[in-house]
Amino acid sequence: MISIKTERELEVMRRACKITAAARALAGEMVRPGITTGEIDKAVHDFIISQGATPSFLHYNGYPASVCISVNETIIHGIPGKRVLKEGDIVSIDVGAKWGGFHGDCAATFACGEISPEAQKLIDVTKQSFFEGIKFARQGNRVSDISHAVQTYVEKHGFSVVRAFVGHGVGAHLHEEPPVPNYGAAGKGPRLVRNMTIAVEPMVNMGTYDCRVLRDGWTTVTQDGKLAAHYENTLLITDGEPEILTVAEGLSDGIV
Ligand code: MF3
Ligand code: CO
Repeated sequence: MISIKTERELEVMRRACKITAAARALAGEMVRPGITTGEIDKAVHDFIISQGATPSFLHYNGYPASVCISVNETIIHGIPGKRVLKEGDIVSIDVGAKWGGFHGDCAATFACGEISPEAQKLIDVTKQSFFEGIKFARQGNRVSDISHAVQTYVEKHGFSVVRAFVGHGVGAHLHEEPPVPNYGAAGKGPRLVRNMTIAVEPMVNMGTYDCRVLRDGWTTVTQDGKLAAHYENTLLITDGEPEILTVAEGLSDGIV
C-alpha cells in the first residue's frame, strides 16, 4: 500500500528531512584526505542525536553504523570504519534520520581533494540524472516516467544505472511502497498522487551495471571494479513541481 501523508505528517517529515540534509552536508564537508570514514560516521551520528532525531540506518536489518560511506568502486552500503580517505577518492554518503516518527533519506557523492575529470563527470551526471528524473515526478504521471528519464540521461552520457537496487517510498518507514527503479520503459508502475513521499536515488556506474555484495553482507561494489556514484533526495509529490524535502537550511541552494 502506498501511504499518502496528511498535512500534519508532512510538517513532521519536512523537519526530519531538514535534519537529514544537514547531516549529509556535514558529512560532505568532512570529506578530505586523511580522515577515516568512522570519524565521519561518529560526527553524523552525534549531530543527528543532537537534533533530537535518531539515525534511521543504525541497526536497520542489522546494519552496524549510522551512515553508509561508499568509496570509489563501492556503490552503496559501505560500512564506515578505519579506512582512511585519500586524495582522488570519490565518496558516496547516504544518511537517514527519523524525527517525530518520520524518516528523511538522502545521499550524495563527494570529491576527496583533487579527483580525475572522469570521476567528476560521473558525479555530475549522477546528480543531474536525479533532476532529469524528477521533472516527471508529479501527480498523474507514473513511477517509471521518472525511471525512464534517469536511465536515458545516464546512458546518453556513457554510464550505466544499477538495476539491483532502487528508490522507494519513504515516511513512517524507511522503505515503503512503491519501488522507484532508475531504469525501464516509461508509463509503468503506480500513478503518482499528491502527498506521496518518495526517495529517488540514481546509483550510476562508470562501466557495467552489474554489482556484487561483499562477504560482510552489505558492501555493494561494481562487478568490474570501476567507479560508482549515488545521489538521492526525499521528494513530496504535488500537482505541480515536486518539493525536495531533504534541503538543508543555510546552504546556498539548500541542496548538496
Ligand atoms: N539509504 C539506503 C536507501 O536509500 C538504505 C540504507 S540500508 C541500511 O534506501 F541498512 F544501510 F540502512
Ligand atoms: Co533511500
